[in-house]
Amino acid sequence: MDKFIIEGGRPLRGTIAVAGSKNAVLALMPATLLAPGVYRIRRTPNLRDVWTMSRLLARLGVHVELSPGGELFLDTRSISSFEAPYEHVKKMRASIYVLGPLLARYGRARVSLPGGCAFGPRPVDLHLKGMEKLGAEIDVEHGYINARADRLRGATIHLDVPSVGATVNILYAASLAEGETILTNAAIEPEVTALAQMLVAMGAQIEGIGTSTLRIRGVPALTPLEVIENIPDRIEAATYLIAAAATRGSVRLVHANPYHLGAVLDKLEEIGCTLDVDGSTISLRCDGEITPTNVTTAPYPGFPTDVQAQWITLMLTARGTSRITETIYPTRFGHVPELRRLGAEIEIADSTAIVTGGATLQGATVMSSDLRASASLVLAGLVAEGTTEVLRVYHLDRGYERMEERLQQLGGQIVRVPTDEY
Ligand code: UD1
Repeated sequence: MDKFIIEGGRPLRGTIAVAGSKNAVLALMPATLLAPGVYRIRRTPNLRDVWTMSRLLARLGVHVELSPGGELFLDTRSISSFEAPYEHVKKMRASIYVLGPLLARYGRARVSLPGGCAFGPRPVDLHLKGMEKLGAEIDVEHGYINARADRLRGATIHLDVPSVGATVNILYAASLAEGETILTNAAIEPEVTALAQMLVAMGAQIEGIGTSTLRIRGVPALTPLEVIENIPDRIEAATYLIAAAATRGSVRLVHANPYHLGAVLDKLEEIGCTLDVDGSTISLRCDGEITPTNVTTAPYPGFPTDVQAQWITLMLTARGTSRITETIYPTRFGHVPELRRLGAEIEIADSTAIVTGGATLQGATVMSSDLRASASLVLAGLVAEGTTEVLRVYHLDRGYERMEERLQQLGGQIVRVPTDEY
């Protein structure tokens, strides 16, 4: 178990190359099950969630190797199991992504039912409804989803909420189903688009990519792709922009995709930061006072729920009151009690955090509860006076590649140390 020790109070300044997207690669990896063959996914981040997905795929019979340069090699020619056991699913909910490909390509899948998570209940009913609409027989017993189908059939499916995960699973399955699927209210997150583009390159017939209505004409077989390029991680990029803004520093992000960051860049300008976008480079400078600004999380292209916690930390440095409303996961505020330990003034009313910013934060020991909550604590530690210790940084390692090294690169005083503290 590791912890971070942070000496706060120094502005971050420097350049960071944005890593490949975690959420995109987690959707791209299971797509390789749809067409047995050999694949290379470039720009794969070296993260715990990628290791978890790799181990799960290895259990199914996939040969997986991640090279130090970030190229992920997958050989899916000898699949021997169709089961995603609890030990994987409990570590990472995206393990449910193997459901669609196994069902579509091999006619069966057994996947442990994910439970709740640190930010409240997270059902998978829309994934199951989608598979059933496509003709799968689904039983849920003893904590497992058992799915079977001889050949999936195209269907008209409407998602009650534009779920990223359900859209991903339906895209996989419908690509190999017989006939046409019309999916309405589909998620339009860039990670979904990255998957749809990969499937098209494999021979899938998908229209409406990037919109909330997808029309998928199933094909009998897909072809493996030798090389796939992952997209930049928009949440990582947002986190480092916010870190620079919170410490009143400056940062230059290279290999970013500014189009994926519209809502966040807009808000950063609104609070008074200076932004410059040049191709795939985003530069931010933030001096002096910033303006307290409200945000409401929403599906893409709205303000991402995965940036809500970091935004709260930023608003703690703005003199005055701001309101941060969470509409995706109404109870996703695990970071708030920990931020209060640093002296933060935050009230929660329903699904809104009311932040009174401007007071000096004071270093203390705090505990990570989930990935993005942990990021907000690290950012708060970089702002706070004195020393902050962030325990349980394994949460951060799920989604940020060597976060402490990246922050050191920007002049942050942060070290990782092994600890027995839990
Ligand atoms: C993905 C992201 C996660 C992000 C989230 C929302 C990955 C691996 N994870 O998670 O980082 O926070 O999108 O942007 O890409 N819902 C249902 N029934 C379902 C599925 C979802 O009611 O079957 C609800 C959820 O409770 C939530 C909303 O739909 O309120 C959106 O969830 P969803 O988009 O599915 O999130 P994930 O795909 O799990």
